[in-house]
Amino acid sequence: MTTGWETARERTTRVLTPTELARLLGQPEPTVEQADVIAAPLGPGVVIAGAGSGKSETMAGRVVWLVANGYVRPEHVLGLTFTRKAAAELAERVRKRLEQLRATEQVPAGLVEGDPAVSTYNSYAARLVADHALREAVEPSTRLLSQGQAWQLVARIVGSYDGPMDAITVKPATVVRRVLDLAGELADHLRTPDDVRGVGRWIDERVAALPKRPGKDTAELVTTQRKREQLLPLVERYARAKAAREVMDYGDQVALAARIATRHPEVGMIERSRYKVVLLDEYQDTSHAQLLLLRALFGDGHPVTAVGDPCQSIYGWRGASAGNLTGFPTDFPEARTPRPGSAARHELPQR
Ligand SMILES: Nc1ncnc2c1ncn2[C@@H]1O[C@H](COP(=O)(O)OP(=O)(O)O)[C@@H](O)[C@H]1O
Ligand SMILES: [Mg+2]
Repeated sequence: MTTGWETARERTTRVLTPTELARLLGQPEPTVEQADVIAAPLGPGVVIAGAGSGKSETMAGRVVWLVANGYVRPEHVLGLTFTRKAAAELAERVRKRLEQLRATEQVPAGLVEGDPAVSTYNSYAARLVADHALREAVEPSTRLLSQGQAWQLVARIVGSYDGPMDAITVKPATVVRRVLDLAGELADHLRTPDDVRGVGRWIDERVAALPKRPGKDTAELVTTQRKREQLLPLVERYARAKAAREVMDYGDQVALAARIATRHPEVGMIERSRYKVVLLDEYQDTSHAQLLLLRALFGDGHPVTAVGDPCQSIYGWRGASAGNLTGFPTDFPEARTPRPGSAARHELPQR
């Protein structure tokens, strides 16, 4: 029975709907689709929707809704996004609403104390490395090279290199770029230069077994592979130079974080007990190494909400794969005992 009003005491026995919560905070009301995501059961879920459709807003709404209803404490929420600006905006949005919520005195004050952990994917990887590098026998104090410093280091290596370069016809600045790209790709796929040489031998065997001369496409494949192989000694010198200086670049850092996460299950246990709910913004831009990292830590049915726009991938050129978005239900399956009613995929229509 509704009496038209209820006391805060009565209220705490009942779950606030996303719309009620928005009204309480003087926020625009969520659409039906947004409300579904905000109040989805605690399990993995992905939202695939276009730019400006309200995905980031929905993430903020979900944090506040979960906190307001006592499902999670603010400091047990981890939110990740790509830029520091976006991270600061999300943190601020959530912080303000929690503050407002406290002011309404409609929820027990203890529920809304504290702030969620919001950071960029890179700084989250950096934090894991700082905490757990020793597990992989790496000094946690290893310094991070800026992109400019990485460029300078490789430029010096390229400048003094006297090994064979006959397959490489581009100018030195382009060689520097290609060495950095190849080093980055290898890090992103947790591969070594020897893996690339192995691919070369595999290709050569197949070509040698062909009954006739290879066609144009195959010849091109072989040429590309030879060029790549000639860059490998430079990639290896870059790796040695970094090791000698006790530095790593961004690619190394994410790769190390992914190695830590995949090889040391106890790290996942620590992270999952620290963060009961995980929100991943701009998920379409995550790289392969970031996917491995997140999947190893939170791919056990943990409540992970990822949002992304398949048409918006801006990092395609550096290994991001929009495929991560469509692969989400496989990478982050439901817990083995399924939670009733949990939906793995939501759609937000264009607003
Ligand atoms: N239900 C809503 N009612 C009113 N405005 C909304 C609603 N959902 C989102 N917005 C606003 O729409 C804009 C785009 O939302 P945002 O979450 O940044 O989109 P996306 O992350 O999908 O690109 C923001 O200004 C946001 O505040
Ligand atoms: Mg957004």
